[in-house]
Amino acid sequence: MPHLFEPYTLKGVTLRNRIVVSPMCQYSAEEGVPNDWHQAHYTALARGGAGLVVVEATGVSPEGRITPGCTGLWNDTQKDAFKPVVAAIKAAGAVPGIQIGHAGRKASANRPWEGDDHIAEGDPRGWQTIAPSAVAFGGGLSKTPKEMTLEDIARVQADFVAAAERAREAGFEWLMLHFAHGYLAQNFFSKYSNQRTDAYGGSAGNRGRFLVETVRAVRKAWPAHLPLSARFSVIEFDGDDETMQQEAAELARAMKAEGLDFFDVSVGFNTPTAKIPWGPGFMGETAGRMRRETGLPTATSWYVGTPQMAEAMLEKGQVDLVMMGRPLLENPHWPFFAAKQLGVEKPSWTLPAPYAHWLERYRAA
Ligand SMILES: Cc1cc2nc3c(=O)[nH]c(=O)nc-3n(C[C@H](O)[C@H](O)[C@H](O)COP(=O)(O)O)c2cc1C
Repeated sequence: MPHLFEPYTLKGVTLRNRIVVSPMCQYSAEEGVPNDWHQAHYTALARGGAGLVVVEATGVSPEGRITPGCTGLWNDTQKDAFKPVVAAIKAAGAVPGIQIGHAGRKASANRPWEGDDHIAEGDPRGWQTIAPSAVAFGGGLSKTPKEMTLEDIARVQADFVAAAERAREAGFEWLMLHFAHGYLAQNFFSKYSNQRTDAYGGSAGNRGRFLVETVRAVRKAWPAHLPLSARFSVIEFDGDDETMQQEAAELARAMKAEGLDFFDVSVGFNTPTAKIPWGPGFMGETAGRMRRETGLPTATSWYVGTPQMAEAMLEKGQVDLVMMGRPLLENPHWPFFAAKQLGVEKPSWTLPAPYAHWLERYRAA
């Protein structure tokens, strides 16, 4: 059996294989409420055979959304609308997960296909962004955020807790905190966006305080038998990568001590001038380093792309799970493709029985 198709157990949850649907914003909700699009999209992905389906970055508050089309979990209407999505993922044999987050200084943006930039000043669809310091990202995202007060910090952390509770009530079994990609938590951790002189800025320990406190608070609300994970960016590719990785590993160990169970290793995207070495599996070695240095099980994504690459990353002990994004948009049945490529016996049975039965007979003919 290839590693990619070995089951994986973490706490009280078992995934049927190591393929994870990476969270992918659909920018297709209104008022944060998932709809028919999300129902069809997540059902298709779960039927495709992945072990874990992580629902897109979901705002813990209206201001925490990336765009007005992002999903949210700040009210019970949203929670109730997620219930049939969760049920469909489970019915297809996958574990339902969700990523919750706050977009910080990158919030209040237009959908990617409508500009990917900040909504213009004065446009009623936009809102005031917040961040640790009043420093804009730059480029098309040049709106200056309001510097958060200590009350703002406590409020956002309480929003994370409330969203985690709603995620549980909706039936999700795997929670991912969005601590990556230049959004609020990354804004705290990164020297590019944090110029605070209080307990939340300065040293690496202080810049990590928001994240550690948030893990601590969410862990109390999220059931002990269910995995709590974080997608956390450990590298910017800005020339200062060794320092950042050392600080990130230290911070991940502190989050582990607060009850973090799983580490999804990613890229910072917190400076527009980074030189990212895009290429097949380019985050594999970094993920492996984080796995060794933190003792946490890890995953990563980014151009893993082929079944052979995914298998090699598992074989080398770089990751425990492989996050897949765009390959699954292209082909939600990618796990079937991977099973054929890796020589799994009766690969059609990665799909639901009403498909698998006929495909296996067709293959055998
Ligand atoms: C349409 C789209 C939406 C995305 N939305 C999110 C998101 O909500 N949260 C997140 O952490 N990453 C997001 N990402 C990044 C993916 O989760 C993934 O890390 C990235 O696409 C790299 O994996 P891939 O090379 O397999 O696509 C998104 C990517 C795409 C293509």
